[in-house]
Amino acid sequence: MRVPQISMSVFEERRKKLSNQLRDSALILVANPEHIRNGDVAYAYRQDTNFFYLTGFEEPNAIFVYRPGKNPETALFVMPKNPDQETWTGFRYGIDGAKKHFHVDAAFSIESIRAELPRLLADVEQIHHTLFVDQGFDQMLLEIVKNLASSRSRSNRGHLTISDPRSMIGELRIRKSPAEIDWHRRACEASAEAHVEVMRAVRPGISERALHGVFLRAIMERGCAREGYGAIVASGENATTLHYTFNDQICRDGDLLLLDAGGEFNYFSGDITRVFPVNGRFNEAQKRIYQKVLTVQKDLVAMVKPGIARESLQKETISRLTDVMIDEKLLRGRKEDLIEKKEYLKFYMHGVSHWLGMDVHDAGTTSVNGEPRLVEPGFVLTVEPGLYVPADIPGIPDELRGIGIRIEDDILVTDSGNENLTIRSPKEIADIEAVMAKR
Ligand code: GLY
Ligand code: MN
Ligand code: MN
Repeated sequence: MRVPQISMSVFEERRKKLSNQLRDSALILVANPEHIRNGDVAYAYRQDTNFFYLTGFEEPNAIFVYRPGKNPETALFVMPKNPDQETWTGFRYGIDGAKKHFHVDAAFSIESIRAELPRLLADVEQIHHTLFVDQGFDQMLLEIVKNLASSRSRSNRGHLTISDPRSMIGELRIRKSPAEIDWHRRACEASAEAHVEVMRAVRPGISERALHGVFLRAIMERGCAREGYGAIVASGENATTLHYTFNDQICRDGDLLLLDAGGEFNYFSGDITRVFPVNGRFNEAQKRIYQKVLTVQKDLVAMVKPGIARESLQKETISRLTDVMIDEKLLRGRKEDLIEKKEYLKFYMHGVSHWLGMDVHDAGTTSVNGEPRLVEPGFVLTVEPGLYVPADIPGIPDELRGIGIRIEDDILVTDSGNENLTIRSPKEIADIEAVMAKR
């Protein structure tokens, strides 16, 4: 027997916030499908974020229909109980359990979706559904829309339209409630402490894979269910690949290690990058370039407050990192020309910030009415400038070849400015070396 770990009032309140925008509409959410990894082994299951956000229900083969103001207002289609199968694959809530524990007006077997859904769509004017995730379901939905069209055509209303609800739900997800901030804080703090565990474990000769294991153990010991994304455990030159995920090389004396990893707690993700020396001490060139990126990163974090646009952070990053590139003889020429010709892209080629939440690159548009979105209290965003020097391009100082630096924190916007949720993971050179000296 299982019971939901989060109070259903959380999900009911979230749904309520959507209700005005869904008058005379049906929102349909389809649970993430299961995927086979190999043979009869499935990939570890994780519910679709929007499905979980509005229901709290974590099983696959489920569909949720929300029709504010109608009866039933909420309907959940789930796998029925099946003791034989549950002996193999574990507990299911079943139809009665879904109704009892997830506070929905009606629960049905997923097998009856074809019979029941037309009735739930007969008295609405619009459908909100994300197409192309489960194309089998899409096909069935289109058939239902077609069949309903004949009754609607007599009143000249045309087909029910289908619109994508992601930006509407994203508008809610971008503003975190106090409870959500608590969960997000847990994810970020667990992730930050896990980074420290990896700093303590790294040494010449250890594999990136073993360090990944250290990170996983540390986040799970702190209550995280899983990672928020596949960790990047990149030693030496591997750090110049932005989303390096092989994580199978041996860490070498004299190299740096870039760890970009975050745990997920109650579906909220941390996203932290730290760079530290495999042998515990930065060499002079590493120290110099790391310190320059760190100074930029800290200045960017200080800029985060209500009313700033992420675009402003990006502009400042390009300007400041181009200065570093000129200073370090990675680029030559006038700063304005180098920026105009986007020469900085050779060494810095990604956004400096993204929304963070239940998805690592979280929901919520970056612009509103064609204007850059200004951040508000309750938003969480990353700040992550980086500098990546490929080993094999001509005309650059040898001491910088193959160095990749990214420093990434998770920043909560507050009324008066911001709070760094990942402060527990040291980033000052002296602090990192002090942690590593105690190994
Ligand atoms: N971990 C992916 C990112 O930093 O955006
Ligand atoms: Mn990030
Ligand atoms: Mn990251």
